[in-house]
Amino acid sequence: MDTEHVFEQAKKWILEAGDRIRSSFDKTLNVHTKSDPNDLVTDIDRDTEKFFIEKIRGTFPEHRILGEEGFGDTLSDLEGVVWIIDPIDGTMNFIHQQRNFAISIGIYENGKGKIGLVYDIVHKELYHAKEGSGAFLNGRELPKLERANVKESIVAMNATWVMENKMVDHNMLIPLIREARGTRSYGSAAIELVYVATGRVNAYISPRLAPWDYAGGAIIVEEAGGSVTSLNGDKLDMLNKSSVFAAGPGLHGEILEQYLKAGKIE
Ligand code: IPD
Ligand code: CA
Ligand code: CA
Repeated sequence: MDTEHVFEQAKKWILEAGDRIRSSFDKTLNVHTKSDPNDLVTDIDRDTEKFFIEKIRGTFPEHRILGEEGFGDTLSDLEGVVWIIDPIDGTMNFIHQQRNFAISIGIYENGKGKIGLVYDIVHKELYHAKEGSGAFLNGRELPKLERANVKESIVAMNATWVMENKMVDHNMLIPLIREARGTRSYGSAAIELVYVATGRVNAYISPRLAPWDYAGGAIIVEEAGGSVTSLNGDKLDMLNKSSVFAAGPGLHGEILEQYLKAGKIE
């Protein structure tokens, strides 16, 4: 893959898609539900995914696409070049708040993360990373993350995971929350991941996400010097759902060993 060429195209399309989404704010949204009443999707999510698919298929016909809304390909492996796309990550925020949502794109070659893009449209923040070249916010390189400890850290996590739930032993997360300096929740995995990359938060934990939620952000965190794994410390799965734990150097190991490995993950 000609990484530079693919990146330039992806950047152009994500900015264009952002303009289209921004101009949709004046129109009435058609909101639909998916698996449950809180699992929302709008026509804008679908149109944005179709927009990317048309562009990618027209320019890179040999590339394959895994998109949340299902207009891409059905994949059973990650051979060749695969675009993993979430057209709007944080749809509930998009509908209720018109902010705190992002487009997320991860481009993988034979399973290896090559290019990550996350565009926070309303705040006009475009994050990107190319393998081995660092992480950038609006074209400026982010400084490498420094070591941190739990006591001085902000942990991003949804309150759902400290209530009894089917995914994770909520008791295991209570000591971490008690020990950390503070917690935040933004409602967009992609935004929470790039916030780890900038140091706005120091860690992000989510028991159950899909590849399109984390494919782009994970590359950006790693290029900023952080680590992204499952809550068990395993490599992320880009074809199936996974838990996600992102943090900077030092902190990732500390939280994994002292808090997460003590608990039960399904
Ligand atoms: C959701 C967001 C949210 C996370 C959910 C995801 P969507 O993505 O990333 O932060 O907690 O699990 O499904 O549905 O808005 O693309
Ligand atoms: Ca998502
Ligand atoms: Ca989405």
